[in-house]
Amino acid sequence: MERLQKYLSRCGVASRRHAEQMILGGRVCVNGRIIHEMGVQVDEARDSVTVDGKPVLPSPDKVYYMLNKPQAVVTTCEDPQGRKTVLDLLPKELRIYPVGRLDYMTEGLLLLTNDGELANRMAHPKYKISKRYLVFVRGFLTDKMIQTLQRGIALEDGPTMPAKLELLERDASQSTFYLTIFEGRNRQVRRMCEAIGLPVLRLRRVQVGFLQLGDLPAGKYRPLTVKEVKQLRKLLCGQEGPP
Ligand code: URA
Repeated sequence: MERLQKYLSRCGVASRRHAEQMILGGRVCVNGRIIHEMGVQVDEARDSVTVDGKPVLPSPDKVYYMLNKPQAVVTTCEDPQGRKTVLDLLPKELRIYPVGRLDYMTEGLLLLTNDGELANRMAHPKYKISKRYLVFVRGFLTDKMIQTLQRGIALEDGPTMPAKLELLERDASQSTFYLTIFEGRNRQVRRMCEAIGLPVLRLRRVQVGFLQLGDLPAGKYRPLTVKEVKQLRKLLCGQEGPP
């Protein structure tokens, strides 16, 4: 027996958190009964689970992809406003979903998988997975601002953790730098830059943990290599085999 949301995430339907939202939204049935509450346990061998009327079965093969998300694409799987989603850039038969989020106008490295457990761990603050961004801002980034961004800056949802900044160029009109952060709050980099008075002109995620975007063109995707998957499992699960 296992908790319904865990089963859904293991089957590649959604991350555990998103699965909980699906349950609360009345989209999940167990043996024909709509489930509205948390805490229901299911037995894979005996219970029949559906989401939006479609049967949910364990997916034996876990797959891991990296996408170079272009600007003007939403990271969610469906968009009520009908905008292009990251899933529109991938083959339909791949039942995978994004790990974490990039804003509509943020470009760069996005991981997608049907491995709900690994996706949960990637997003969990405990693992402090680094995210490296190439940031273009309007205005001159002073040494004092660099220190502020690195040490931590007060945002409305609390101070940011120490970050690492590598300056590439700066002049009166524009500054460019790499910023590595170890948490993943909503619009975090944009809000950090807004807080020092320099609006973001362009934002690209170039690295997540040890995974690098490299020269993957915008809008293209590739499976992670066997070596990358092993390394990822080692990082998040302390082992190379399945979590
Ligand atoms: N920080 C942001 O501001 N936006 C993103 O998409 C990711 C990090």
